[in-house]
Amino acid sequence: MSAHIEVTSADGVVTIRMNRPDKKNAIDRAMYGAMAAAIADAGEHDEVAAILLCGLPGVFTAGNDIRDFLDAVAEDARLGHEVEAFLQALATAEKPLVAAVDGIAIGIGTTMLMHCDLVYASPRASFRTPFLDLGVTPEAGSSLLAPRLMGYQQAFALLVLGETFDADAAKAAGLVTTVVDADTVEAVARDTALRLAGKPREALQLSRRLMRGERSEVLRRIAEENAIFAERLRSREARAAFRAFLDR
Ligand code: COA
Repeated sequence: MSAHIEVTSADGVVTIRMNRPDKKNAIDRAMYGAMAAAIADAGEHDEVAAILLCGLPGVFTAGNDIRDFLDAVAEDARLGHEVEAFLQALATAEKPLVAAVDGIAIGIGTTMLMHCDLVYASPRASFRTPFLDLGVTPEAGSSLLAPRLMGYQQAFALLVLGETFDADAAKAAGLVTTVVDADTVEAVARDTALRLAGKPREALQLSRRLMRGERSEVLRRIAEENAIFAERLRSREARAAFRAFLDR
């Protein structure tokens, strides 16, 4: 488990909060593991109707912990089973995922939203996936989900060009449901999760399953992306980029 992930449960809503302020909520392996377990656990409890994902005021997450990337290179150049478990949990989540994004959402901070059912963002939210600048490639199923969600060219601008999308651009692109004031964004997302919790549970689950469709395609794409990503971690380009960030 991780001290940097807070999991609380009330009124049918499980809240998963990333809380690592000194590292801008960069997600390390233990945090991935804790979030994966919380999502899987929520799926097994009938009293849970929805999951709320959130960060801290001004920071959703700066993405994967870059030191972990280097450690992965030093070990077996795999992403780590905690990361794989988190991606699997997102893709197969049985309960609706609602996100509240205030501030930066980088890398997996952006791509995890593509698995969410509803995303609320503050005007100061920003979305960026600097995969190529780090010498790596898109992950979390984003190479499949982003073109579907946003259209090919917007997805290419986000995932390959590494363009930053502000809240309005992310809403226009279909990544964000609604832009809400920073001081109320989490409350609005929570109220929405509570509204879901007030719906007839079986009908909620069945409707969501129909809308999300068969998951095997997403899981296959995640596995394909992971294999390429793991190779890229070993590349000279990626190692140089990680070092440059850590030696700033
Ligand atoms: N992995 C590891 N540590 C990270 C991190 C990450 N992804 N993002 C931020 N941190 C750490 C910094 O190293 C710094 O640690 P230190 O105080 O021990 O030196 C601390 O968080 C604060 O970050 P800092 O860069 O000083 O804050 P900033 O406000 O100037 O910039 C960011 C914030 C998010 C723009 C910048 O930290 C950044 O670009 N991070 C990397 C984002 C990234 O590429 N993520 C991976 C995507 S695949």
